[in-house]
Amino acid sequence: MRKDKWRIGLVGAHRGKGYGSLLAGHPRCELVACCDSSEQTLAGVQEAFRLSDAQCFLDYDAFIAAGMDAVLLATPIPVHARQTITALEAGVHVLCEVTAASTVEDCARIVDTVRRTGKTYMLAENCVFWPFVRDWKAMVGSGRLGEVIYAECEYLHPIPAMIVDPETRAPRWRAARAPLHYCSHSLGPILEITGDRIVRAMGLGQGHRILPEAPVGGIDIQVALFETEKNAIIKLLRTSVAPRHPGFHFYLIQGTKGFVESARDKTGGTGRLYVRGEMKEARVAPCSLVDESLPKEAQAGGHGTAEYVLVEEFLDALDLGRKPSIDEVRAMDMTVPGLVAHESAMNGGVWLDVPRFG
Ligand SMILES: NC(=O)c1ccc[n+]([C@@H]2O[C@H](COP(=O)([O-])OP(=O)(O)OC[C@H]3O[C@@H](n4cnc5c(N)ncnc54)[C@H](O)[C@@H]3O)[C@@H](O)[C@H]2O)c1
Repeated sequence: MRKDKWRIGLVGAHRGKGYGSLLAGHPRCELVACCDSSEQTLAGVQEAFRLSDAQCFLDYDAFIAAGMDAVLLATPIPVHARQTITALEAGVHVLCEVTAASTVEDCARIVDTVRRTGKTYMLAENCVFWPFVRDWKAMVGSGRLGEVIYAECEYLHPIPAMIVDPETRAPRWRAARAPLHYCSHSLGPILEITGDRIVRAMGLGQGHRILPEAPVGGIDIQVALFETEKNAIIKLLRTSVAPRHPGFHFYLIQGTKGFVESARDKTGGTGRLYVRGEMKEARVAPCSLVDESLPKEAQAGGHGTAEYVLVEEFLDALDLGRKPSIDEVRAMDMTVPGLVAHESAMNGGVWLDVPRFG
């Protein structure tokens, strides 16, 4: 159902501020309200987006009751499920930051609520919208790499001060987020490129040598292995504390005829590509985070042009009344394997089935 302008509310104005900039200046939508439980943060965002007092809320339920077409949730993961379900039940579409929820049960509740209400849900997994992911997907789809047999993804990003307050030593919300729980930036692009889904998971990593006072969020490093429906193996490596500067995302796709991989650096930079019969050895392959064909404003959301393309996808889905590319089922394909792999890690690395939602 095409609307002149979609009326969008923003919740969580830290990470959410970048999206606020995209939405406020967007011709297809209007930023109509903002909610943040911190008075100071709310005041900052009110000024930045020139909102009236009546458009700003400390309380989420009052915010939803004010009425809007869609909400962008950029709040801590432990509140995603409640806020998503409240919005859907009030008839409001949801674009939710990663990951979808902290437990498998909450993921199931979100899927049930989307089905019951018929509202649109999309996971805001921005890494899926980097231009190199689109290019690699086309390459895999064309068969140039043969059949995908193996993939790797890594997200090594030390953020100890976001886990434990460096002054008070009080745990922040990320203290309860195991490294493997934050898996969608890594698995998202791999599953998008391969069109696959994960069926079994195992994980390792319980050590606490780097940030000993932190709960699971401070686990030194975790690794997971996954088996997929198409019979490929995926390896995922995650840390939020081990010293690696700069932090980076890394991706590798290994097919029966060749491979493509990104660089282990912050910018995406130059990766490598090898295709049997086309070249003697691997060549440099660009894996850009910026789609240069888009207007300059497309970089306002951060992470190259990813957020801009992601918002376009959400608005297209609303306009056309179709499912977005990362709908409730795909969101759980990108969230649940990490929850299950962490459970495996806590149980010494047993293999566990990953439930499916679609
Ligand atoms: N996609 C990405 O690249 C990316 C990057 C950073 C964070 N994130 C995700 O964005 C979300 C927010 O992360 P962050 O770094 O901004 O966290 P943060 O803790 O820095 O900020 C969260 C904000 O939400 C507010 N808040 C907390 N509980 C609330 C509630 N119940 N109702 C309303 N407001 C509430 C806080 O006051 C704060 O302003 C998380 O889901 C995180 O995983 C994604």
